[in-house]
Amino acid sequence: MGVLPVLSAILLASTTHAEFTFVRRTSLAPRSQDVALPAAEFTVPFTGKASVRKSKKGALAALRGGASNAVVVDGTDFDEEYITNVTVGGQHFALIVDTGSSDTWVPQIGFNCFDLDHNPVSPDTCAFGTPGFNIQASKTFKPFPNVSFNITYGDGEFLSGPVGFDTISVGGLSVTGQEFGVPTLAAWEGDTVNTGLIGLAFPELTSVYNTTDPTKASGANQLPYDPFFFTAVKEKKLKNSIFSVSLDRGTLEQQENDIFDANLGFLAFGGIVPVPVTDTSVTVPIEGYSATTGIPSSALGSTFFFYTVDVESFTFPGSNKLSTAQNNTILDTGTTLNFVPTDVAAAYNAAFKPPAVNDPDVGGFIVPCNATVPEFLVRIGGKEFSVDGRDQLLPIGTDANGVLTCITGTQDGGPAVADNIFILGDVFLHNVVATFNPIAEQVTLTQRQKY
Ligand SMILES: *[C@@H]1O[C@H](CO)[C@@H](O)[C@H](O)[C@H]1NC(C)=O
Ligand SMILES: *[C@@H]1O[C@H](CO)[C@@H](O)[C@H](O)[C@H]1NC(C)=O
Ligand SMILES: *[C@@H]1O[C@H](CO)[C@@H](O)[C@H](O)[C@H]1NC(C)=O
Ligand SMILES: *[C@@H]1O[C@H](CO)[C@@H](O)[C@H](O)[C@H]1NC(C)=O
Ligand SMILES: *[C@@H]1O[C@H](CO)[C@@H](O)[C@H](O)[C@H]1NC(C)=O
Ligand SMILES: *[C@@H]1O[C@H](CO)[C@@H](O)[C@H](O)[C@H]1NC(C)=O
Repeated sequence: MGVLPVLSAILLASTTHAEFTFVRRTSLAPRSQDVALPAAEFTVPFTGKASVRKSKKGALAALRGGASNAVVVDGTDFDEEYITNVTVGGQHFALIVDTGSSDTWVPQIGFNCFDLDHNPVSPDTCAFGTPGFNIQASKTFKPFPNVSFNITYGDGEFLSGPVGFDTISVGGLSVTGQEFGVPTLAAWEGDTVNTGLIGLAFPELTSVYNTTDPTKASGANQLPYDPFFFTAVKEKKLKNSIFSVSLDRGTLEQQENDIFDANLGFLAFGGIVPVPVTDTSVTVPIEGYSATTGIPSSALGSTFFFYTVDVESFTFPGSNKLSTAQNNTILDTGTTLNFVPTDVAAAYNAAFKPPAVNDPDVGGFIVPCNATVPEFLVRIGGKEFSVDGRDQLLPIGTDANGVLTCITGTQDGGPAVADNIFILGDVFLHNVVATFNPIAEQVTLTQRQKY
């Protein structure tokens, strides 16, 4: 999940607090570097769920049209999330693991649920996996008075409410005094499994503000803080300041039928995840952003928000007619699909056989699920990473003629203007081990063996 809307506000405010600010202070990593990555100290399996969210049901209804004999294929991974078990103040929750945002939050028991249009709805509608965090039941919770949490994700979900500190543990890695949000207001399209999210991006992207009224949140009163991984590093809980993820694709059968699938990959702290890889590997610098222009910058003093990398090219049949380089592309475990510049998405989707068509009712390119998928290579740091064709077809239902229809894995992320952020989501990440070193401001990508 990218937290896209806040970026310009934060950049424009430039009232960042030196002790928290994560700016470029090291020189760039070589464009292409072999790094021997250590085995992980803490590893947890991912579980994924695949359920049909409300937002998708609209799309499915559109696809079905008026036909009465059409069946919906439930449980696709169109909006699959990767979740892991997290303990907060001794209470257990399944949280979405998100490299595209920085806050960790769990709704408070008794929260008010809203739809994305700000209308109050029943708490069940938010579809969290538990009733929420019970502040009174935690012996270690400390409130952070007079501040508030306020976040809006790129998909329109939003939350707000108080902030506190507590002990948070993931896979045996435990940090104390972790700042996190305990929202009392939630507009969330849940899956009945997750009860919140753990954000793994940079401190400057956090969403706590120096105001008791969350509607007064702005770049000027932002109080950036250390997200979970940064706290673990500061508390010296890790020998190596890295974390690593492998996200497995579910089988088509799982994607179609299962609400919840155990063991869909790994999240590792302090080392690399234990999955078979090839020798295609590269370490590249994370791009910061210029505070004056808001576009990726490698200048000293640039500010880090996301795991932004410089994509040198996307290669697919027909791509030679396009300039496909894009240096404002984030690696985001919390987004299912890839979002690339408009011309790239149009040309790639046209290369499916039959060509994928942009369906305004679905809000994306769709094809029959038996379509032939064109090759798709992403060049980063001089190495080509290939995306398996199975990741480019995500079943969303049967159309009025009974044809099993898929949304394609690589969609239109808007025009290729410098300040537009593009996303390599789970569709790309299924094919690599991604190892993040935000302290050294580097990411290592390693192509996985075919699975
Ligand atoms: C996560 O917690 C749930 C419920 O407590 C448990 O059933 C499940 O096995 C746990 N999963 C992992 C990967 O530890
Ligand atoms: C919070 O605000 C109240 C009223 O504005 C004030 O009395 C109190 O001292 C503040 N607390 C802290 C910890 O700043
Ligand atoms: C919040 O702002 C007030 C002034 O309005 C200031 O006194 C206080 O130190 C700020 N709190 C934090 C945590 O920075
Ligand atoms: C979050 O803050 C913005 C202003 O930056 C405000 O418009 C919005 O209503 C706030 N959201 C919530 C849920 O309080
Ligand atoms: C990224 O690309 C923009 C042009 O779109 C350019 O102005 C900027 O300098 C580039 N940033 C880096 C770090 O290469
Ligand atoms: C895909 O399925 C349709 C029927 O739904 C069939 O007419 C078509 O020949 C199939 N295409 C391929 C490439 O198998």
